[in-house]
Amino acid sequence: MNSIWSDHVQGVMTLYLSRKLRFDDIFFAQYEKLFNLDHNRDLIILEIGCGPGALAESLHRWYPKAQITAIDRDSNFISFAQENIAGIDFLEGNATHLPFENDFFDVTISNTVQEHIEPSAFWGEQIRVLKPGGVCLCLSARKGIHCSAPCLKMTNEEKELWDSIPIGR
Ligand SMILES: C[S@@+](CC[C@H](N)C(=O)[O-])C[C@H]1O[C@@H](n2cnc3c(N)ncnc32)[C@H](O)[C@@H]1O
Repeated sequence: MNSIWSDHVQGVMTLYLSRKLRFDDIFFAQYEKLFNLDHNRDLIILEIGCGPGALAESLHRWYPKAQITAIDRDSNFISFAQENIAGIDFLEGNATHLPFENDFFDVTISNTVQEHIEPSAFWGEQIRVLKPGGVCLCLSARKGIHCSAPCLKMTNEEKELWDSIPIGR
């Protein structure tokens, strides 16, 4: 039982509702372009550090043919997702030791998780479970990573905040 994130950082509903807004259908066209995934394929997708499941829930609507598994080490997030979101396999587990065989997934995806996990384990495990030629999608709020998708455009206030923080801190 691990509930560090949901007890001390962001509660279940705070994270779920804020991500429901971030991954609302009004942004679908922009995410679709950004992800560039083939709708005609029966993709096998893994979301790493899924929290309470809002991104996986949207992916399930946007890619109905895909088989989606989502993993997080916080038990409260996984219990909430299992009870409230249908059609996705939610698992409690550690991104640094993924409980999957090599070369299994077509796509791995994460949203604001990469900055919290030791890089060689975070990337190494995804490379291991991705099929050769698979796609690793990493959405990040880290300063220095830029994306021109309009849905991720910063407000002036956010830009001022990030500009005030030295890189590498
Ligand atoms: C900023 S939250 C983002 C959650 C989710 N991706 C979202 O956007 O709602 C970071 C998440 O990473 C999870 N996490 C951190 N380290 C992890 C690890 N080693 N294995 C699995 N999950 C981890 C936390 O429990 C938390 O849910």
